[in-house]
Amino acid sequence: MGVIDPIALKKIWMDGKIVAWPDAKVHVLTHALHYATAIFEGIRCYSTRRGPSVFRLTDHLARLYRGAKVYHIEIPYKLEQLRSATFKLIKENKIDHCYVRPIVYLGYKKIGLSMKGAPVQVAVIPVRFDHYFDEKLAKRGLHCKISSWSRLSITALSPHVKASANYLNSVLAKAEAEREGYNEAIMLTEQGHVSEGTGENIFIVRKGKLITPPFYDDILGGITRESIIEIARDIGYVVEEKSILRDELYTADEVFLTGTAAEVIHVSKIDDITIGNGKKGPGPITSKVQSVFYKAARGELPKYEKWLEFVK
Ligand SMILES: Cc1ncc(COP(=O)(O)O)c(C=O)c1O
Repeated sequence: MGVIDPIALKKIWMDGKIVAWPDAKVHVLTHALHYATAIFEGIRCYSTRRGPSVFRLTDHLARLYRGAKVYHIEIPYKLEQLRSATFKLIKENKIDHCYVRPIVYLGYKKIGLSMKGAPVQVAVIPVRFDHYFDEKLAKRGLHCKISSWSRLSITALSPHVKASANYLNSVLAKAEAEREGYNEAIMLTEQGHVSEGTGENIFIVRKGKLITPPFYDDILGGITRESIIEIARDIGYVVEEKSILRDELYTADEVFLTGTAAEVIHVSKIDDITIGNGKKGPGPITSKVQSVFYKAARGELPKYEKWLEFVK
């Protein structure tokens, strides 16, 4: 008997075919394994009263195609085909909520850096997934560390693309933070501006206003970030996209992170400095946007139904 894999489902979509989970394999000479020539997405499917709904699926897939364009990778399927594949997988796996990981990568043809002739392969992988940070941590708030690793810069790679190559930067920052007893790392740009978490965008609250770093501070343009900006403005808060400096994090009234996996989670300490007044739980503005986001994603708010893509 093999070990039971807690995230495994039955089916994966690979290069146009639905395959059994154990058969979804690649060759060790896969170009992407050696040179990180892959671009992926992370998407959540939520259980709603109207059945499973994939949150902003089209926007996530559009980001995948934009990323591929930046790196001269032509995806051999139409966006609509990957959208249908996602729905099909959710149906065939008989699940009402999960995380979906589409990935586009260069496969095996020969050894060497050239992209010429390397096949563009595509997989859509649904996995069982609930919390990225456990519930206890979500209540207490994250303890974050400003990483000694800078966020990769646009002069080397595109930080705006969800490319596998970017994630060694995030993995190093996360590993360093965890080794030192923190839950998450916050990375600064090479100029010392606050950029983002290892898999999340960041917001601060100061004097009732929300502030989040702009694209030119080397962030991934998060779909959760975009949703939170819209929700916060709808509630009536002012949201500014402008550079944040390290000390502004320490003295913010509230700090929270956003991402598909993490959803919306507050930060209670950064570099051992308590954020805000030290009261337990998220601050009032974080709580408000968090609660609207949670309801919106789970189909409880008609105003945001435009973000729901139901599995038919
Ligand atoms: C580095 C990084 N920043 C930000 C985000 C948040 O993006 P999104 O809200 O689209 O999941 C993610 C997660 O995908 C990420 O990996």
